[in-house]
Amino acid sequence: MSSTAISCLVMTLCFTLFAHSTYSQNISSFNVQKLGAKADGTLDASQFFLTAWRLACASNNSAQVYVPPGRYLISTAVVFSGYYCKRTMVMRIDGTIVAPTNYNLIANSENWIKFDNVRGLYITGGTLDAQGAALWACKASGKTCPQGATSVGFYSSRNIVVSGLRSINSQMFHMIVYKCNNTKLQGIKISAPADSPNTDGIHVQLSTGVSILSSQIGTGDDCISIGPGTVNTWIESVSCGPGHGISIGSLGWDLQEPGVQNLTVKTVTLRDTDNGLRIKTWARSSTGFVKNVLFQHIAMGNVRNPILIDQDYCPNNLNCPGQVSGVKISNVIYQDVHGTSATPVALSLQCSRDYPCSGIRLEDVVLTYNGLPTTASCSYAAGTASGVMNPTSCL
Ligand SMILES: *[C@@H]1O[C@H](CO)[C@@H](O)[C@H](O)[C@H]1NC(C)=O
Ligand SMILES: *[C@@H]1O[C@H](CO)[C@@H](O)[C@H](O)[C@H]1NC(C)=O
Ligand SMILES: *[C@@H]1O[C@H](CO)[C@@H](O)[C@H](O)[C@H]1NC(C)=O
Ligand SMILES: *[C@@H]1O[C@H](CO)[C@@H](O)[C@H](O)[C@H]1NC(C)=O
Repeated sequence: MSSTAISCLVMTLCFTLFAHSTYSQNISSFNVQKLGAKADGTLDASQFFLTAWRLACASNNSAQVYVPPGRYLISTAVVFSGYYCKRTMVMRIDGTIVAPTNYNLIANSENWIKFDNVRGLYITGGTLDAQGAALWACKASGKTCPQGATSVGFYSSRNIVVSGLRSINSQMFHMIVYKCNNTKLQGIKISAPADSPNTDGIHVQLSTGVSILSSQIGTGDDCISIGPGTVNTWIESVSCGPGHGISIGSLGWDLQEPGVQNLTVKTVTLRDTDNGLRIKTWARSSTGFVKNVLFQHIAMGNVRNPILIDQDYCPNNLNCPGQVSGVKISNVIYQDVHGTSATPVALSLQCSRDYPCSGIRLEDVVLTYNGLPTTASCSYAAGTASGVMNPTSCL
């Protein structure tokens, strides 16, 4: 530990030394570099980040953690807890945060960087580089490898704005929003290669009032995935590709499961993705449901399964005794979905035999395959089609 870090154990002294207040705004700024972090990416900066957070958190004024330009190594899993914070926390990142080249140092933790129990958080800018390639190679080799860490997770928090953050090459997911309320992610850039395993872009679960706006996501798995218990979600002006598209699910693994409702996905582009708009549920008994979903103004380019509901999900026929999904899907609208499919079947709605989909609405869905019309396949799906339809509706 450096002498500055030691002196920082005495809080008030630290404030005198490191809180740079701008009188007009009364914001104290805690600069990780001034606290001892090296910007050359070689020395573990975890403790300096945690110290800056602790000081900002204890500040009576609005306070920010500031990360200047440069590369900062965070070689352990870190948790920024907001439990004792007095005010909204601000983290301004002009630099890049890098994970250790030895993936084992973080790969057994759920998250590399975790925000927990924060009430009021603004994060602006910054790049997270998890350097996931070595772990992907381990997974591809068939050896026993750790699962990998999600690059950044927001847990049990509310009133969050993340703006202009870039995340590249995560070990597992890039971003998770879990048990949060009122969270806005905007101008997010996520990228990992198309063949990187489980590198989902943004996963949202058990959360209310999450919006994802003006973001670009390219990954090896779902660009955005919506898990159980997700309510009032707004996704707008997002581009996805490569990746597995925008996915609700997998849902219905648990018998008792909260549903997904009030989801809007608007003005989204999907290019060269495996799926476009997918709802996927396990073929298992469950109290889960999906209702009130609007997909509007969606452009597809060379998407393998543009519109897909798959309620028969049961890989290797394992763990699905009755082989029927209990998840009830209702009121799902596809409005103005256009572009190209990479396969002849552009619309596939495979609903539950025991709980058929209801209130499916297709309006102006125009998808072509090699310049030719596409086809649709439905089972246990009820609803209406209107406007221009290609494929011809199977409802
Ligand atoms: C900043 O703090 C000073 C002293 O506490 C106070 O007089 C002033 O009104 C504050 N300014 C703002 C913009 O809040
Ligand atoms: C913050 O405010 C409390 C209560 O007003 C006070 O006791 C404490 O010393 C202040 N902390 C700092 C660092 O100024
Ligand atoms: C989110 O809202 C729900 C419902 O009002 C509440 O029970 C929960 O505690 C809130 N969570 C947070 C982190 O604010
Ligand atoms: C879903 O949206 C509707 C209409 O905006 C609203 O009335 C309802 O309360 C929302 N449901 C939940 C669970 O928030």
